[in-house]
Amino acid sequence: MDNNLDTGKTLIIYASDEKYQERAQKLAKALNVPLAASEDELKAYALSLVYNDNGLTLSDGERSMHGDFTKMLPRLKPNNLNRELIVKAGKIKSLEPPLRAVDATAGMGEDSLLLAAAGFEVELFEYDPVIAALLDDTLKRSALIPELSEITGRMHLHAGDSIKGLSELSFKPDMILLDPMFPERQKSALVKKKFQLIHQLERPCDDEEALLNAAIKAAPKKIVIKRPLKGPFLAGVKPDYSLSGKAIRCDCLINLQRLL
Ligand SMILES: C[S@@+](CC[C@H](N)C(=O)[O-])C[C@H]1O[C@@H](n2cnc3c(N)ncnc32)[C@H](O)[C@@H]1O
Repeated sequence: MDNNLDTGKTLIIYASDEKYQERAQKLAKALNVPLAASEDELKAYALSLVYNDNGLTLSDGERSMHGDFTKMLPRLKPNNLNRELIVKAGKIKSLEPPLRAVDATAGMGEDSLLLAAAGFEVELFEYDPVIAALLDDTLKRSALIPELSEITGRMHLHAGDSIKGLSELSFKPDMILLDPMFPERQKSALVKKKFQLIHQLERPCDDEEALLNAAIKAAPKKIVIKRPLKGPFLAGVKPDYSLSGKAIRCDCLINLQRLL
């Protein structure tokens, strides 16, 4: 396992019910971590991933979280959606839908969901295997929810590094979203406790410059970079323009020729 936790026994998988056993076995094999035979075994591990009726749930014994796109439904209503900073920043007026986007730092996929609701076909890349597993499970459950299924049908997850992924794309994306971790968010009082659990796993992109260069080389019409409101430019590159919200800023690069 490759994550930020430094305990010896980091992660274990558990199926809370026999009906989840096959999925749990598959995930334990994919992540190369043990599968618990009983709930008791979880106590010896810093983290567990448990299949239960809420979906795949990450827990550290005190806090737990699972992906839930239904909480995003109010934000997906057309009037609200058009006010979302990511949607405003991602728009490319001159092109006919469907536009194709790459979310190179997917996390739990919320920004991608907004983009998919706005009509984008989105390729999502997430390199942390635990976050990718949680997101994969969230997408699979959302496919069964009528209000979400059409939207999440436009979201395609790739569990892997986007620096490599962007260099292997078989198409030219219209837009690329980069939201490598911003550490200030972790300290914010606004951050809900349960999300601190996921921030424990998130690690900043190893090489911001390589990420930005991979995005530039993929030759999109636009790169949107999500930053903290007062944060520095990614890899020190000045954007062509920025859109600012209450807590975040979207730096937009459209003139990519100058960066090649
Ligand atoms: C701040 S979070 C993104 C949150 C996301 N925008 C959302 O709406 O939920 C950054 C995520 O990018 C992932 N990440 C960073 N660099 C990456 C890379 N080169 N390839 C794939 N995933 C990456 C991290 O593991 C982390 O989950």
